[in-house]
Amino acid sequence: MKLPEGFLLGSATSATQVEGGDTNNSWYRWSTEGKIKDGSNPLRANDDYRSFSGTVARLRETNQKVYRLSLEWSRIEPSEGKFSEEAIAHYREQISLLLQNGILPLVTIFHFSLPLWFEAKGGFESKESVDIFTRYVKRCAVGFGDLCNEFVTINEPNVYATMGYFYGDWPPGKKSFRLAMKVFGNLALAHIKAYKVIHEVREQMGFSDTMVGFAPHYRVFVSYGNGLMDTLAASAMRYLFQDAITKAMATGKLFPFRLRSLKGKYYDFVGVNYYTISQVKFKGFQALSADDAPKNDLGWEIYPQGLYDICLELSKKYDAPIWITENGICDKDDTRREKFIRDHLNSVILAASSGAKVERYYHWTLMDNFEWLEGESAPFGLYETDFEKQRYTLRKSGRYYAKVCKTGETD
Ligand code: BGC
Repeated sequence: MKLPEGFLLGSATSATQVEGGDTNNSWYRWSTEGKIKDGSNPLRANDDYRSFSGTVARLRETNQKVYRLSLEWSRIEPSEGKFSEEAIAHYREQISLLLQNGILPLVTIFHFSLPLWFEAKGGFESKESVDIFTRYVKRCAVGFGDLCNEFVTINEPNVYATMGYFYGDWPPGKKSFRLAMKVFGNLALAHIKAYKVIHEVREQMGFSDTMVGFAPHYRVFVSYGNGLMDTLAASAMRYLFQDAITKAMATGKLFPFRLRSLKGKYYDFVGVNYYTISQVKFKGFQALSADDAPKNDLGWEIYPQGLYDICLELSKKYDAPIWITENGICDKDDTRREKFIRDHLNSVILAASSGAKVERYYHWTLMDNFEWLEGESAPFGLYETDFEKQRYTLRKSGRYYAKVCKTGETD
């Protein structure tokens, strides 16, 4: 099948997962407490902070036209209110190198990792977090706004709040529905303020092409059984996990006590991170995979049709282009990745032909990297990484993706 005219393909990474070398962030701290399943930590990762040119070479080798990278907040603002000119210069170099190579950067400002000083102040639980985040975002807009016009403010606010505050498996490791809701509210407000400040700064610079959005994690939620309770639980989970936060961030229309005066449109594109479908059971409020369904190595059910459904639904609800900001598979043997990519891209093509304004696809991810709780043991990459030797081998599925990036055709 053929991708729509002008459709852009590339991949996505995040700073903590690829850069290595930073100990000033919440995920490094988490790793020192023995929380990473394979005992690894993000210190070496892909050594991308020092060898970003290797990353760019891999993007070029695979014909990618767009790249979603993120900034490590703890490098840019290593202590409260003090910004590192060196780190800013470093990211300017990275962005410039991408541009020189004809690759369009999409910069994520916050992707899960907090500077230690901010975590110690309570992170996004605290009232003042919104202003602290906005100050950081403003510095980023000033620092990079002349080079780059596309920004994701917050990656997966819903995963961040749920894993860190509801399940407590991620830093800061708390289990409180009340706190999770508070964090959701603060993140919504933080996005809205970030959206505004990036636009303001770039307008003052004389630019009118600013594209700002956010990238929630979207799932398809279906009922586990046929009973009413499972069906209700599936709707409730979907609303709490993704619909409410999307609406709040996009329009300022939720969390009425906080955002009442903020009604507006706070997105220039709709970011979609999509991986899987959940079968929801009322008992224990569980999200499960169907027993007989195809799965990735982590047990996540593979469901390409979901991407079609989500694209169509979001394009009905929200008035902006859709960018698939993440989609990928943990597949150590590389036996399922090529089919996964083909099937998901075909879903995107079908969604576009049914009227969804879907314009881009960023594969997660370019190279096996530090996969949060799984550490170095969950390979999502088009390139296989030998972490010890820092060697990279393009997988067979990576060769397939390179061909799609070149031809714009999935077969
Ligand atoms: C995150 C990535 C992560 C990927 C695979 C997404 O939830 O944004 O950082 O590596 O899923 O788990």
